[in-house]
Amino acid sequence: MIFAGDPPFRKARAKGGVPGIAADANAWVLRFPTPERAMGARSGGTGFAQDDKSSPTTMIYPIVKFGDPVLEKSAAEVTTFGEELKKLLDDMFESMYAARGVGLAAPQIGISKRIAVVDVTFKEDPGAKLVLINPVIVKKEGRQRSSEGCLSIPDFREDVTRAKTVTVRAQDAEGKFFEHTGEDLLARAFLHETDHLHGKLYISHISALKRDLIKRKIKKLVKAGEW
Ligand code: NI
Repeated sequence: MIFAGDPPFRKARAKGGVPGIAADANAWVLRFPTPERAMGARSGGTGFAQDDKSSPTTMIYPIVKFGDPVLEKSAAEVTTFGEELKKLLDDMFESMYAARGVGLAAPQIGISKRIAVVDVTFKEDPGAKLVLINPVIVKKEGRQRSSEGCLSIPDFREDVTRAKTVTVRAQDAEGKFFEHTGEDLLARAFLHETDHLHGKLYISHISALKRDLIKRKIKKLVKAGEW
């Protein structure tokens, strides 16, 4: 994740952050080797920039990183549906793509509302774009263990055991309720993003030892001005 043009929000990491890692198909945070678009989208240097591939008003939000309290508090239910929400959803998808993620929850852009967007195909299949408003996990089955990461904890990954098949009940952009069952990566996305809306991060699912190690490393990065 390179945010060199946005000094108030991010500093470019001297090490790590190498595009092209996590090339396996089941990778949680997809990174692509040619980040021109994301970099171009951030070239304004204001922290918010226009994305030339979408509508001229599209806003690419910077991703909030671990340490910001917004990531660890419960988000508020969405009760108002309308144009403003739709604009936010468009911006969330574009922000997610710019960060090369396959899921993004509103607290990750500093908005403490129960909203998440998911596209585990990363733009391959427009039909795979999912909006989850006020999502609730209603069914979990089976087990899968795989590497997981989070845009808010960049450059760290750990194996996390999750349910293999997950049904989520949520509202769409219009407020209409629906249920969707996902397997494997999609199931993982439902759980990971719904966790975010409860102020819970994936590192709460790993051992205390590994979690403390990650936190210590982040502390060092913060000290070095690299977080
Ligand atoms: Ni995340």
